Amino acid sequence: MAGDGELLPRIAVVGAGIFARTQYIPRLREISHLVVLKAIWSRTQESAEAAAELARDFAPGIECKWGDAGLEEIMGDPSILGVAVVLAGQVQVELSLKMLKAGKHVIQEKPASGSTTEAETALSVYNSFPNKLPYKPIWALGENYRFEPAFVESSKLMNDIGDMMNIQVIVEGSMNSSNPYFNSSWRRNFVGGFILDMGVHFIAGLRMLVGSEVATVSSISRHVDTDLPPPDNICSLFQLENGCAGVLVFAVNSRSPKILWRVDGTKGTVQIERGVDGGKHGYQVLFSKESGECQKTFYPFCGVHEELKAFVHDMVQASKDGDHKAEPRSSYVEGARDVAVLEAMLESSTKQGAMVQVKKF
Ligand SMILES: *[C@@H]1O[C@H](CO)[C@@H](O)[C@H](O)[C@H]1NC(C)=O
Ligand SMILES: *[C@@H]1O[C@H](CO)[C@@H](O)[C@H](O)[C@H]1NC(C)=O
Repeated sequence: MAGDGELLPRIAVVGAGIFARTQYIPRLREISHLVVLKAIWSRTQESAEAAAELARDFAPGIECKWGDAGLEEIMGDPSILGVAVVLAGQVQVELSLKMLKAGKHVIQEKPASGSTTEAETALSVYNSFPNKLPYKPIWALGENYRFEPAFVESSKLMNDIGDMMNIQVIVEGSMNSSNPYFNSSWRRNFVGGFILDMGVHFIAGLRMLVGSEVATVSSISRHVDTDLPPPDNICSLFQLENGCAGVLVFAVNSRSPKILWRVDGTKGTVQIERGVDGGKHGYQVLFSKESGECQKTFYPFCGVHEELKAFVHDMVQASKDGDHKAEPRSSYVEGARDVAVLEAMLESSTKQGAMVQVKKF
């Protein structure tokens, strides 16, 4: 295999926080036969070096970059084809645009933006970049749920449940003081709190499952657990473009964690529930058929792995063929649509549950 490393694409990870260390580095190790981790950046030298040590076994040549000079070095390194932006929600969009403008393909961590206004402005900036390269740099969003096999397979089962009658999304989270993200300072200063930061995943799952956009919402949000930033609870009634209505009940922290999506149809029901099977975390999919028979399948998590693999494939293809169409499930716009649903829910709750239209992207 010697020499293969020369041919592989190179990427940089910008960010060395919890998610970069506990997800990006292990997942990049799993695909180190496809992509080389060339550099890792943090605001400080100390944290860049600590993160690089975690990757040294599979990326022996990894370089540490820090501060503004480190960002300039990454942008100016022609061997770096793509960048993973894994930073605080408040600064990710600005940094992604900077990298895209420098011609790097970007996979940015969720949430896509702090608001739909920020996403709209960012998309118009991205679309106005002059075409200096033979290809347009890809802007992918890492939100992983659209890549989870449980959602991919369940969205196919939707064809067999007849007409959709109703939808339930129940999220009883466990964001308590034992959770590594509990004290994350950027999440505590983020408009929408954990509802927006965590919620984009549950909306992504919903939209992927039902294959129709959320058109209108009516919600009440509350601040109950004062150890969490507001709001920490939301109840929402929503209607899809296809006419079907559903409810979302979401507590950021509860004593008995449960995460479930369920769609009742005239001929059957599809349900996805977070769970553990054989020591692996993932999703249990239940498919109740017209015959009364119930089919159960467990799918372990692998969304981050799958979306990184798709990003690497897309950046390599795009560099060969300027017309290459990147994986639509990764597109930044999909993430902006998830933000739009939650923003509408939060807006409705400031108007005592008045119906709000979800902004379209
Ligand atoms: C936090 O939630 C987890 C999962 O429900 C639970 O095991 C743990 O005991 C909780 N910790 C605290 C401090 O409540
Ligand atoms: C978060 O901060 C609280 C209060 O300072 C502390 O008790 C808790 O252990 C911290 N949690 C984590 C995961 O660091």
